[in-house]
Amino acid sequence: MSTKIKWGVIGSGGIARRRTIPEGISKACNAELSVVFDINAQVNAEVAKDFDAKQAASIEALLDTDVDAVYVATPAHLHGDQVRASAKAGKHVLCEKPLGMTVAEVQEMIELCQQRGVKLGCAFMMRLVAQHAEALKLINEGKLGQPTYARVQLSCWYPPIEGAWRQDPAAGGGGSLIDMGGHCIDLLEMFFGKVARVSCFINNTVHDYKSEDSAIAMLFFENGALGTIDTFFCIPDNSSKNALELYGSKGSILAKGTIGQAPAGEMVAFLEQDSKDYDARQVRTEAQEMIIAPEPVNTYQAEIEEFSQAIIDDREPLIGGEMGLRSQKVLAACYESARTGKVVDVN
Ligand SMILES: NC(=O)c1ccc[n+]([C@@H]2O[C@H](COP(=O)([O-])OP(=O)(O)OC[C@H]3O[C@@H](n4cnc5c(N)ncnc54)[C@H](O)[C@@H]3O)[C@@H](O)[C@H]2O)c1
Repeated sequence: MSTKIKWGVIGSGGIARRRTIPEGISKACNAELSVVFDINAQVNAEVAKDFDAKQAASIEALLDTDVDAVYVATPAHLHGDQVRASAKAGKHVLCEKPLGMTVAEVQEMIELCQQRGVKLGCAFMMRLVAQHAEALKLINEGKLGQPTYARVQLSCWYPPIEGAWRQDPAAGGGGSLIDMGGHCIDLLEMFFGKVARVSCFINNTVHDYKSEDSAIAMLFFENGALGTIDTFFCIPDNSSKNALELYGSKGSILAKGTIGQAPAGEMVAFLEQDSKDYDARQVRTEAQEMIIAPEPVNTYQAEIEEFSQAIIDDREPLIGGEMGLRSQKVLAACYESARTGKVVDVN
């Protein structure tokens, strides 16, 4: 195999065209774009022209080429069939989130990829944000002490749009919770480990489409820490600063705007050098602010390079199908909690 992985793209006209092809596949040092397919033939032709790729007339035709890997970037309800078809054709697959529509479907996708000897990746690129990697390092080094509480916020303004697949649970699996909350849950599991149980509310607060436009979930982690995620389709983009807050017995790591598609945002840590005695004055100015500002990383380039390298090195991808499965399990528990009004165990 050459040191450049040949990529095919299924669903070339959305995030693939906006970000993953121009910033990821085209820029990656170990990847090249070979062939694209989209159900919208005109859009597909434009993408093929813009990025100097071949156009396939069908998924079968794309899978019949010599591509090593396929990037699936279609609406959520199509992921299962397209990943299965790619695996059966012997292609490694990087699939957008959510991996599938149900936990059972994702389990089946993972098993099929294992049987066919192909790698399955889940495009949780927010794990690769430079500040998030630094925060994870601090946590792993014990600088935060015992993890106690985490909050992740990801919201946007998403008004009713005729035919929008995210606004119909039959196509998107749900609304703001599965679409943006999936990233939040995945990030929190990266920082604090597995979620054991959840309690969740969803609602249509502003928009009257079939998917929820509002969701909050409370998370109880296996390590005893607590967390919340809040994710809305009905808060203006500029009003939501996508907060990430991580607290522990020895400090906090606080960020705004690091969760998103472009390298951006600010992160600071307030870490105590020694364990503290109780101070009735509750002075809040002693800990030194530590600004966390590493060299920015383009997450689309990083995810394509990482997955391509996993193929070249024949190792598991850093963000594999199992992480997609974890997210799907926590999301399923959240939806069940919202439906029943009960606290739900994830496993
Ligand atoms: N990680 C990220 O930054 C990020 C951002 C946006 C979207 N996403 C994910 O990417 C996926 C796509 O979202 P989007 O925003 O690009 O949606 P989109 O609707 O903008 O684009 C989807 C594309 O898929 C095409 N398509 C639809 N049915 C198809 C079929 N049967 N075969 C081939 N192509 C088909 C559409 O024509 C369209 O071009 C979703 O899973 C979403 O969650 C990830």
